[in-house]
Amino acid sequence: MGESVAAKSSSFGSVIAKYRPDLAPYEDIYKHCHANGELSTQEKETASLITEHLKKLSNDLDIRTGIGGHGQIAILKNGPGKTILLRADIDALPVQEKTGLPYASTKTMRDTDGLVKPVMHACGHDFHITSLLAAAETLIAARSTWSGTIVFLFQPAEERGSGARAMVDDGLYSADKHACPIPDVVLGQHVFPLQAGKTATRAGPVMSAADSFKVTIYGSGGHGSMPHRTIDPVVIASHIVVRLQTIRSREVPPDETAVVTVGALQAGSTENVISDEAVLKINIRSVSVEWREKILASVKRIIKAECLAGDCPKEPLIEPTSSFPLTINDAEVAGEINKSFTAYFGEKNHDPSLKNVLGSEDFGILGSSIGKPYCFWFFGGHDAGMYEEMVKKGEEQKIPVNHSPFFAPVLQPTLTIGVDALVVAALTYVGKGSDG
Ligand SMILES: *[C@@H]1O[C@H](CO)[C@@H](O)[C@H](O)[C@H]1NC(C)=O
Ligand SMILES: [Zn+2]
Ligand SMILES: [Zn+2]
Repeated sequence: MGESVAAKSSSFGSVIAKYRPDLAPYEDIYKHCHANGELSTQEKETASLITEHLKKLSNDLDIRTGIGGHGQIAILKNGPGKTILLRADIDALPVQEKTGLPYASTKTMRDTDGLVKPVMHACGHDFHITSLLAAAETLIAARSTWSGTIVFLFQPAEERGSGARAMVDDGLYSADKHACPIPDVVLGQHVFPLQAGKTATRAGPVMSAADSFKVTIYGSGGHGSMPHRTIDPVVIASHIVVRLQTIRSREVPPDETAVVTVGALQAGSTENVISDEAVLKINIRSVSVEWREKILASVKRIIKAECLAGDCPKEPLIEPTSSFPLTINDAEVAGEINKSFTAYFGEKNHDPSLKNVLGSEDFGILGSSIGKPYCFWFFGGHDAGMYEEMVKKGEEQKIPVNHSPFFAPVLQPTLTIGVDALVVAALTYVGKGSDG
């Protein structure tokens, strides 16, 4: 170890005090983004807002756009040293906002199937965009205090689990395509239903894998009065739904975390007609490679066996609809981030031993696809007073979480913490005198 943590802490503090810009214009950018979210893969206006802002920040940013859809990077080379990548995701969700905020979204847009949908930044990616832009401004201004290369990466389509993969597959890191410098460390963050001012992460598995499938069960339809002349897919699908519950309760060990949810069950349209098809939409969350594979195999086995038991005329069609990998924070990087965050935010505000989060992210692909370590952390967005009050009343479960139409992080100090966390994490690796 070189420098002491105390020395680093004061150097983070003095860099931020000196170089972090007035965030008032960023609060306006946040509100604009919040009111104008765009659905996954269609983040055109958001992407150009980001590009325009980056262009204004500095001529030294090497900006590359249109990567894997509306993804982009801005590269800042500043002497010898480590290369780090800071990532923000930029897409919004088809959710009708009900927060009542003055800057609430009333926006609608057509999704990729052509259906008109309400749009809301219900996952807080607007905080990620704004924090990364302000962190870029801070690090550009502070360049005398660090040496190395920083890549600011803005990723589309996180909610579909496809954006990180799309950027990599489009040649993000290929020398003959977008030629992003290969980072030594990949870093990212997410606003989360903790009190604003708090940060949290952990070494090892931090977010679950999520696999989703659309399953079509084939029956043989007919008149409701003649069930013996039909194969009723509703009955078969119902058995599947119930039997799938036994994976969690009878196959997975009680101390292993896993979820199997049938989020949609669609069949038939009226009382007296037995339909000839049923569709199930299934979502599976797991936190270890071993149990991910076993659970996926169990789901398929049960679906096929129930179709066999029900004498379906055709094998069920099992189509993957999305797949998020496990997010496994590198132990060494998580250790460094913990030291820096504990030093800068204080031990009371940073939790290095967060419980595994059952949400999922495709962030890890930006590191795992090139065999590089990564760390993902969370920062709180809820008004501390409201949070404590709800906990005191025993109503913690009513605090709106990501994806809720009521998810309304307070603008400050959430935004400031989002900016500072990125700057502190970056300086952990490229700060002058840092031992990282
Ligand atoms: C986090 O960092 C603090 C301060 O350096 C240290 O005391 C603590 O043991 C670390 N915790 C973990 C889980 O790494
Ligand atoms: Zn989300
Ligand atoms: Zn999200």
